[in-house]
Amino acid sequence: MSLYLSAAEATVSPATSWLSGSGNIYTDILIITFVIVMVALLVFAIVIQRAMRSILQITMPEAVELEAEKVRVAKIRRREKWKSTWNNILGLHRLEEEKDIMIDHEYDGIVELDNPIPVWFNVLFYSTVVFGFIYLLVYHVFGWGMNQDQEYIHEVAQAEKAKLAYLAQSASLVDESSVEFNEALAPAGKAIFMANCAACHGNNGEGTIGPNLADRYWLHGGEIKDIFKTVKYGVPEKGMVPWEQTLTPAQIAEVSSYIITLRDSNPANAKAAEGTEVKVYASEGGETAGVVADDAVDQ
Ligand code: HEC
Repeated sequence: MSLYLSAAEATVSPATSWLSGSGNIYTDILIITFVIVMVALLVFAIVIQRAMRSILQITMPEAVELEAEKVRVAKIRRREKWKSTWNNILGLHRLEEEKDIMIDHEYDGIVELDNPIPVWFNVLFYSTVVFGFIYLLVYHVFGWGMNQDQEYIHEVAQAEKAKLAYLAQSASLVDESSVEFNEALAPAGKAIFMANCAACHGNNGEGTIGPNLADRYWLHGGEIKDIFKTVKYGVPEKGMVPWEQTLTPAQIAEVSSYIITLRDSNPANAKAAEGTEVKVYASEGGETAGVVADDAVDQ
């Protein structure tokens, strides 16, 4: 995850904007000169064109007038054509055309016009038919697109994946200040214990090289947070390995929860108690646990 720009990325900002130019003064001068020359040329051309027009107006006024007339007529014609196309699309008729489309009956002086269906309506109608046909082919015949059900299943699967990723991530965000005892983690923790810890602490936590983990006596505190800390950082000078390089925070939380479940389990061949007895634990509703744990530290 790179939420933050690296130093290299962060420095590339306004320095490279167009305001500071190309960096080469001669190129800049060349470009500016070019632009100025172009603008001057444009102004010059406009002036010449104006002058020519004035000369024409004086020497051949009829020709100029004729030209203007042509333009005017073309404009009117274009407007009329546009209007009739528009009327066609809307299915409108001129008032004077009404007698042509009048239907041959009359009730109390009320007559009916045989107005055709306007083009816009037909376009709309047929395009819905075409759309429906294509839709049918794409979603139901060839299955190129996902229909509602498939889309739902797809999105749920996607969300499930995102949820797992989130849970995995939030599990590995855990540390010694936020870890909580969770009995549901104990089975996974047991597997980790058997693979990594049993050699020194015994298969049931009874203790061999390492101390007994199944009693109420602790060298480094018996609360889940203390155990997490001991496992994470270890006690290297006393032979307890730091596990933060080998196990993920989530795994350390699991094995720590497992160790909590060993309490008072009275395994066979239990090693003699070492450290200070912790009578009441935070997980058992104890308030003084933190103080006791501190006393228990034996450096
Ligand atoms: C190489 C042997 C060895 C291995 C492997 C080992 N430990 Fe330890 N462990 C020790 C020793 C030795 C101590 C006692 C440290 C001391 O005296 O301060 C200890 C202490 C502990 C303590 C503190 C006990 C107390 O009384 O405060 C805990 C908790 C613990 N180990 C958990 C684990 C876990 C969990 C694992 C596996 C991930 C593990 N240990 C693997 C040797 C080991």
